Amino acid sequence: MTKRKGLILAGGTGSRLYPITMGISKQLMPIYDKPMIYYPLSVLMLSDIQEIGIITTPQDQAQFQQLLGDGSQWGVNLTYLVQEKPEGLAQAYLVGEEFLDGQASAMVLGDNIFFGHGLPEMLDAANQVSVGGTVFGYHVSDPERYGVVGMDADGKVTEIIEKPTDPPSSYAVTGLYFLDETAPDRARGITPSDRGELEITSLLETYLTDGTLTVERMGRGYAWLDTGTHGSLLDAGNFVRTLQSRQGMQTGCPEEIAYQKGWIDGAGLEAQIEKYSKNAYGSYLKSLL
Ligand code: DAU
Repeated sequence: MTKRKGLILAGGTGSRLYPITMGISKQLMPIYDKPMIYYPLSVLMLSDIQEIGIITTPQDQAQFQQLLGDGSQWGVNLTYLVQEKPEGLAQAYLVGEEFLDGQASAMVLGDNIFFGHGLPEMLDAANQVSVGGTVFGYHVSDPERYGVVGMDADGKVTEIIEKPTDPPSSYAVTGLYFLDETAPDRARGITPSDRGELEITSLLETYLTDGTLTVERMGRGYAWLDTGTHGSLLDAGNFVRTLQSRQGMQTGCPEEIAYQKGWIDGAGLEAQIEKYSKNAYGSYLKSLL
């Protein structure tokens, strides 16, 4: 099987975070000690993905390029793609079609943060599936804010509804989608919703209808964090800080993953350390050598 490619959807206006997002993309804002986009980027890297397309608004692209460069510092290859208008998550597969070039993909939303014991194994299992799609269901207290799965008595997923007023379950679909190479074709076939967006749930429904959608449950041992509001942004930062201070280990650290996977060597890591010589992030990287 050819290696899966990655997409990070980092567009949108972050309108619920005004005024702090005026002039800056939400995904570039810090979650404690690193930019938000490092976390979803790390998820793709943990999934063994090295060819990654970063989808942004036209005006934000330069800032992302300045921050992330071509990715070679982490042994990955970043391609920058533009979504002209935020017309829906499924549009990412149309924007990214040429980049994907007929290959399967894993897409992660630029504002989604995942943490949990066993995450690499869970990602690896999804990576191995060559036909259909795998998404992750996570129990939340406010399912009406998300895409929600409905299940029959045996726990088999029967429907996915976007922001239901009357949620059929408490399981939200997280912003991480492992889809096969048919995703762009399927995205072309769906029609915009009442709010004028090509909904990811409509795309997932096509897989569900074909019987090729797997919904893996992410259990309570995982954290799936939201960063959509001022409060949840701060909560996510505090969560990362608490965890890292207690464990003395980083979460969402691209340098560490790249080094562990052998995508960069000691000299490559040292070059990164120099950039952060004045803070704890740099000291942590040093300790990895
Ligand atoms: O976070 C998971 C949820 O993400 C899923 O449960 C929902 O099914 C899915 O529709 C989505 O819901 P949200 O309401 O959170 O989507 P939102 O419009 O906030 O967009 C999520 C991120 O994607 C955000 O960082 C902005 C970016 N985005 C969004 C749209 C619609 C784009 O880059 N382009 C877009 O066209």
